[in-house]
Amino acid sequence: MTTISLIIFFRSVSVFPLSEEGRLPPVQKEKSANRKINVISSLVGYMARRNFSRVMRFEEGQRPSLPAVSSGEPRLLYLHVPFCERLCPYCSFNRFVFEEGRCREYFSALRKEIRLYKEKGYNFGGVYVGGGTPTLLLDELEETLDLVRRCFSIREVSVETNPNHLVPERLERLSRIGINRLSVGIQSFNDDLLKAMDRYDKYGSGAEIVERLQQAQGRFDTLNADMIFNFPSQDMAMLDRDLDILLDLGVDQVTWYPLMVSDSTRQLVTRTLGAVGKGREKAFYERIRERLGREYRFSSAWCFSRKGTMIDEYIVDYDEYAGLGSGSIGYLDGVCYANTFDLAEYCRRLDRGELPLMAARTFTLEERMRYDFVMKLFSTKLNHSQLMAKYGGHLSPRLWLDLILFRLVGALRYSEPDWRLTKWGCYLWVVIMREFFTAVNNFRDFCRAEGRGADMPLSKIQEQTHE
Ligand SMILES: C[S@@+](CC[C@H](N)C(=O)[O-])C[C@H]1O[C@@H](n2cnc3c(N)ncnc32)[C@H](O)[C@@H]1O
Ligand code: SF4
Repeated sequence: MTTISLIIFFRSVSVFPLSEEGRLPPVQKEKSANRKINVISSLVGYMARRNFSRVMRFEEGQRPSLPAVSSGEPRLLYLHVPFCERLCPYCSFNRFVFEEGRCREYFSALRKEIRLYKEKGYNFGGVYVGGGTPTLLLDELEETLDLVRRCFSIREVSVETNPNHLVPERLERLSRIGINRLSVGIQSFNDDLLKAMDRYDKYGSGAEIVERLQQAQGRFDTLNADMIFNFPSQDMAMLDRDLDILLDLGVDQVTWYPLMVSDSTRQLVTRTLGAVGKGREKAFYERIRERLGREYRFSSAWCFSRKGTMIDEYIVDYDEYAGLGSGSIGYLDGVCYANTFDLAEYCRRLDRGELPLMAARTFTLEERMRYDFVMKLFSTKLNHSQLMAKYGGHLSPRLWLDLILFRLVGALRYSEPDWRLTKWGCYLWVVIMREFFTAVNNFRDFCRAEGRGADMPLSKIQEQTHE
């Protein structure tokens, strides 16, 4: 569907029915408005899915390389630690069952990769260590963060963890290491859900997680709780109970993702958690927004912060980020690239003093603008003059059309100097970002499949991720 036909479609569903609605009684009016919103969000989801899977096409026939350092723009360093004590069925991140020897060897390779970026002249303002579970071996984490601080001008350190690591000795050490933001994967406090996602035994029951969060509070600038909504067996009462607990605890920040299912996790998710539908996603999101909105502000469409805290998603705060570690994805100076997903190959390449790049793609100017547009608006606002200045005062006609379209359907409003998401625009951006992460997850899933980590033909990835 072209953009023009989309406009015609949007106009027909958003403008024409409005005049009819005026004659409807309130309940029917609300139903009709909801139907309209559902149609638009499904369509936007479909378009986003198509566009993002196209964007995940990588170049073949040339050895991927990093772009030269072009400016002093603040960039983020993302370090991936792909080990977990238990693997959750819904997760598409590059992750392996924890083995101490393998993990130590990996950390040592990761430090080699960090030194290579330093030698190439890169500098970073912040570091985000994600996983997997970066807090499995704290001596390795500490040595790695020390190196990062010696190499770059780091002002903020974010680390992800699981609730079973929030015990006094580990917490003591984590705050001594100088972590500003600790992000804890909770997903839900409901024991049945935790059991269904195989987290209950290893990462703790709902009651245990509450206790551990209480112990961690106040030790870091920001304590973030990662939650998931729209589990097939979740109902509004269960969601309300999760909200009650979080509001009672008063954690600094809550990131509440919609459950995202990639092609290769679908079967396992359906078997363990049930078939995931989108029918109730908006209602769940609205409830989260309504209840957290009273005490939290938006850091992004799905991240709620209690005070002036750091932001959740590294892609929102920084325009660019380097992705280090096996299976990491980075975006530097318009080049999107991925590291090998194969652990042995990752270590081997670094032993040879080479970057472990597997694939790269240079975005066209149009794609760069649209990427910025989507990511900036994910933080709920986009500074118009900054975007114009970045692109020499010219936005592409397609980007203007997108702005007009989203304005027409009531997802955006302009309030000098920013474009801002409206209440319903926030949900639309949840849909768009769900599709963005699902496209990235599909790409990851395919790369993770055995034997495809090293020198796989990229045309294969493209075929698979574009079906
Ligand atoms: C990738 S994990 C890494 C940190 C830690 N291992 C954990 O489990 O939280 C970070 C967060 O991503 C979110 N996540 C992972 N896979 C997801 C999916 N398929 N759908 C929605 N959220 C997901 C979860 O909320 C999870 O806590
Ligand atoms: S959600 Fe966290 S603990 Fe579970 S598999 Fe993914 S990275 Fe590991």
